[in-house]
Amino acid sequence: MLRYRILLESMHGFLVILHLNSKSMIEDIFKKIISHAKEYGFIFQSSEIYDGLSAVYDYGQYGSELKNNIRSYWWRSMVQHHENIVGIDAAIFMHPTTWRASGHVDAFNDPLIDNKDSKKRYRADVLIEDYAEKQRQKAEKEIEKAKKRFGDDFDEKMYRETNPRVKGYLDKADEVVATMAKALAAEDLAAVKQLIEDLEIACPISGSRNWTDVRQFNLMFDTRMGSLSDGSDTIYLRPETAQGIFVNFLNVMKSGRMKVPFGIAQTGKAFRNEIVARQFIFRMREFEQMEMQFFVKPGTEMEWFKYWKEQRMNWHLKMGIPESKYRWHDHDKLAHYANAATDVEFDFPFGFKELEGIHSRTDFDLSAHQEHSGKKLQYFDPELNENYVPYVIETSIGLDRTFLAVFSHALQEEKLEDGSERTVLRLPKFLAPIKAAILPLVKKDGMPEMAKKIFDELKLDFMLQYDEKDAIGRRYRRQDAIGTPFCITVDNESLTDNSVTVRERDSMKQARIAIDQLRTYLFDQLKV
Ligand code: GAP
Repeated sequence: MLRYRILLESMHGFLVILHLNSKSMIEDIFKKIISHAKEYGFIFQSSEIYDGLSAVYDYGQYGSELKNNIRSYWWRSMVQHHENIVGIDAAIFMHPTTWRASGHVDAFNDPLIDNKDSKKRYRADVLIEDYAEKQRQKAEKEIEKAKKRFGDDFDEKMYRETNPRVKGYLDKADEVVATMAKALAAEDLAAVKQLIEDLEIACPISGSRNWTDVRQFNLMFDTRMGSLSDGSDTIYLRPETAQGIFVNFLNVMKSGRMKVPFGIAQTGKAFRNEIVARQFIFRMREFEQMEMQFFVKPGTEMEWFKYWKEQRMNWHLKMGIPESKYRWHDHDKLAHYANAATDVEFDFPFGFKELEGIHSRTDFDLSAHQEHSGKKLQYFDPELNENYVPYVIETSIGLDRTFLAVFSHALQEEKLEDGSERTVLRLPKFLAPIKAAILPLVKKDGMPEMAKKIFDELKLDFMLQYDEKDAIGRRYRRQDAIGTPFCITVDNESLTDNSVTVRERDSMKQARIAIDQLRTYLFDQLKV
């Protein structure tokens, strides 16, 4: 326990969570995930020797492999598996007008509020949502108590709808969220502050209600570039990769002789100056997105929206994570440019949260860039014999959030039949950082030489690790903890029968395999 506490205290973002949410929200399991990620070289706090930088993380030796593998799984599913999708790699810096056209300069804001005593800054909407969440938690507690009291006769639906205390908490939560949404939609920041005061929300750090006014805070990071000819030298770190695709629409369409419908995919860093960055790599200030814009004929967007919903869910499910861990969240309130939008939510250790967004963005972005650039961003449709601005279906997923989803689902602590325990990272095999460990049973009798020969033969095709230190059981445990699907052990018999023992991570079953069959065996087992 102590180890986790030290880790939490070294990560500024987490201290804030501890205070903002009830402790129950940060379950033991989540602490273990963070601790495991650090201990085994997956994720470190950025510049940790200087006490870290809030909401910025570095991927370690195994983390970067896992991240590369997830990115490549996404890229192949888009670019390699669709003959009408191509990939690009646009720069992070873009002409500043890009962000005026996209609406980010005017509207990419969060409402923030400062506590004058603690000097801590909060998202006003998050403070109010946390208040609403607490009301819901109180209702859930009442329901749990009633469940125990009434046993099998308990009718939860009826209780929710009729018990005055439960109904009171739930109605209050809904009312608070609705009042806030109305105030934000009307850009009435004074009303947002009033709501915080009426609800008597106190600063989780100082405990006081001494708040500043609510102000809008633009989430884009800006920096300066000296060489822009028009004199405006403020440029932004892109807050999404999508705009790099829109501004290259014409280039790609012409140079690739693309015909609608077609898609452009891109992965890369995005930056948002999140006021409340929380939950480890779930919400960061520097993160990576995997986005694809699919350009379609106006009027056909709803069928493509459906198509991409199916495709994307299949992509998630092919990783072997159960369907029950995913759910759809359709947006009730659509952005002014969208005519349909839905999120894929994942059951993270802290509950269901957005993992991916699928949006039908109409012709908003291309039309806005057309207007601001004065360049025609249109497609000539040979069948209709006319030009039009294509409509767009966007799929947008966070790479880091996918990492967290996969990693948190995979980490398990198991009690074995002999009473011992093991920590195992049951990653999808094709995503594992190390595909196989090559282990000589002992460090003598020609076993290391033979193991190294196998390593050299297989390393061209697979990411491997050679390990001869410690007893074989401990080496297995180390590989379990980093998610290595196969341990290949060279033993006494190997020297005479040219075969090895292959231990599979999840079942821990061992099979004897001829050395010259290893490559085929691994290829077969590691298929998506
Ligand atoms: N182009 C559309 C777009 O950027 P978004 O919902 O703002 O939409 C898409 O972001 C995805 O990017 C999210 O579903 C999430 O997975 C990821 N994402 C957004 N903000 C993030 C952050 N601060 N840290 C980590 N991932 C983030």
